Amino acid sequence: MTAMVTLHHVTKIYPPAPDAPAGGRAAALDGISLDVGEGEICVLMGLSGCGKSTLLRLMNGLVPSTSGQVIVGGHDLGTLSERKLQYLRRGTMAMVFQSFALFPHRSVIDNAAFGLEIAGVPKAERHRRAAEVLEQVGLAGNAKQFPHQLSGGMRQRVGLARALAVDPALLLMDEAFSALDPLTRRDMQDLLLDLQAEKRRTIVFVSHDVDEAMHLADRIALLHDGKLLQHGTPEELAASPVDEHVRRFFRGVAPALQASHALAAAAPQAAARMGALHG
Ligand SMILES: Nc1ncnc2c1ncn2[C@@H]1O[C@H](COP(=O)(O)OP(=O)(O)OP(=O)(O)O)[C@@H](O)[C@H]1O
Ligand SMILES: [Mg+2]
Repeated sequence: MTAMVTLHHVTKIYPPAPDAPAGGRAAALDGISLDVGEGEICVLMGLSGCGKSTLLRLMNGLVPSTSGQVIVGGHDLGTLSERKLQYLRRGTMAMVFQSFALFPHRSVIDNAAFGLEIAGVPKAERHRRAAEVLEQVGLAGNAKQFPHQLSGGMRQRVGLARALAVDPALLLMDEAFSALDPLTRRDMQDLLLDLQAEKRRTIVFVSHDVDEAMHLADRIALLHDGKLLQHGTPEELAASPVDEHVRRFFRGVAPALQASHALAAAAPQAAARMGALHG
């Protein structure tokens, strides 16, 4: 498997706040080594404050590592100029946030086209492309509406369409579905898996929900206090947790769910379609 993202011993220590008491600062990330394969969905899981969002921001270069290497698509981000980094970020990456982050005064189609606009794509072409992705996420009929006219689930479809419009090599999703009600959330997960079945993308998806992780992940990376505790397939983590922290996460996972994942492991090409069994 070719790696899209490789982290080598990455540590992140944020600079202290100006009014912070003197003394050592805890590392937000501590010696993380991790790879995400091309076309893989990697779910970053862990409790609040364990470093998930920090890890995501390291991958798109918005946050520099304190030490260690972050390699994306063959580029060592630490060696790139700010200009090259921005070029890489805009041209090959997209991010979807929990808060949707849509522009209230832009129509749905102009929101979906935003990344292309930033990339300098001419208007006719970006509208053509945005209409295409709106269709993919089931919003073909809503192109001229504005965000306030949409439900939360529809807004997040726009957020997803905006990310997909740039055809990113790396899609980063930070708790993207966490603000949605359970049924809408499950619909969005299934939409993501359907899109993944049409065209495989490399996706790093932050979640603290084990059911979501089991449903979406090819592999799960479980963080605790800035450290990577375990990295493996959902069934590996569920069946052989390395310690009590991992075990606690998977305690509530139904045995049937674990069995369906064991099946998926035996037939990887069917894994993306296993969603039907989890419902
Ligand atoms: N910009 C920042 N400046 C200083 N410290 C930060 C900054 N961002 C995050 N941290 C700290 O780094 C640690 C990891 O935070 P991070 O936001 O990555 O966690 P998280 O796993 O995404 O949490 P959550 O599930 O609550 O979103 C926390 O201790 C946090 O306080
Ligand atoms: Mg976070």
